[in-house]
Amino acid sequence: MSRLGNEGEDIIGRWSEEKLDLLAKYLKAYSVIMNEQKKRWLRAYYYIDAFAGSIRPRAKEDEQRYIDGSPLRALQTEPQFDGYWFVDVSSRRVERIQELREEFPDRVIDVCQGNCNEVLCNEVIPQLPYSSKQRAFVFLDPYGLQVDWETVRELASTRTCDIFVNFSVMGVTRLLPREQNPEPAVVEQISKVMGSTDWITQIYQEPLGVQLDMFESSTQPTANRNTIQAEWLARLYTEQLRSLFQHVSKPVLMRNSTNSVLYALCLASHNETAIKITNDIFNQYERLRNLGR
Ligand SMILES: C[S@@+](CC[C@H](N)C(=O)[O-])C[C@H]1O[C@@H](n2cnc3c(N)ncnc32)[C@H](O)[C@@H]1O
Repeated sequence: MSRLGNEGEDIIGRWSEEKLDLLAKYLKAYSVIMNEQKKRWLRAYYYIDAFAGSIRPRAKEDEQRYIDGSPLRALQTEPQFDGYWFVDVSSRRVERIQELREEFPDRVIDVCQGNCNEVLCNEVIPQLPYSSKQRAFVFLDPYGLQVDWETVRELASTRTCDIFVNFSVMGVTRLLPREQNPEPAVVEQISKVMGSTDWITQIYQEPLGVQLDMFESSTQPTANRNTIQAEWLARLYTEQLRSLFQHVSKPVLMRNSTNSVLYALCLASHNETAIKITNDIFNQYERLRNLGR
């Protein structure tokens, strides 16, 4: 996503619309199940959008066409959630998000302006302890590397929050230089979003089995990350998530029109059924995509 429309709205490619369709499909399934649980033990369940966005982005291939962004997908989900938290760092966007209260007067909508890491950890998570018998679905949809691993850890430790993350694979690969070791500041930046960076040392080692003689070694780069694959990085992130959540879906790779991987979408949950549903939705999406639709 690189361009904004004349009212500051995002102009989004096909893959972003597909991401929103996947979100809507899962929200429907989630809400049906949670609504059933309300007849038993559950007190309330919420939708939390940590990167709420521009509400009605425009389609890249036809800028006259408006698309319902993630807050609208959630508000349109039936059965309804008991409440909605919308967070965005941009004050202009937050103003627009406030207007959703008029559009949906019967809903409980909380809007927060700020860095979602702070809002989630300081304002949202303290309201969702395990003893409260509440649950929340948290959508983490940044442009780049804005979701701190520490926030993910805190969300996981509530055991009340499931997270649907759009992990920026491109954001990480873009930081890794091809022919030299990354600067310590870069390693730190990646560590802040991925938790561990042991893998960085591994990919910058010489490939196994390659023996360089003295002459070659002076002309060869000592570090090389050419082997890094988007699929591998996406798996690595989901493995990391598995250290915090009991169940994690497969990652689905979101590609742009030239087939480059931009993001990896996945669900992390404490509930196994949630993961089965997500994997079914992702598998169906991939089958259709492979058929060229
Ligand atoms: C990819 S867009 C979200 C799109 C939206 N989820 C959708 O699908 O319609 C990312 C949004 O995050 C906001 N943002 C960027 N950094 C943020 C942060 N640290 N905390 C909260 N919001 C942030 C931007 O202003 C932008 O509106």
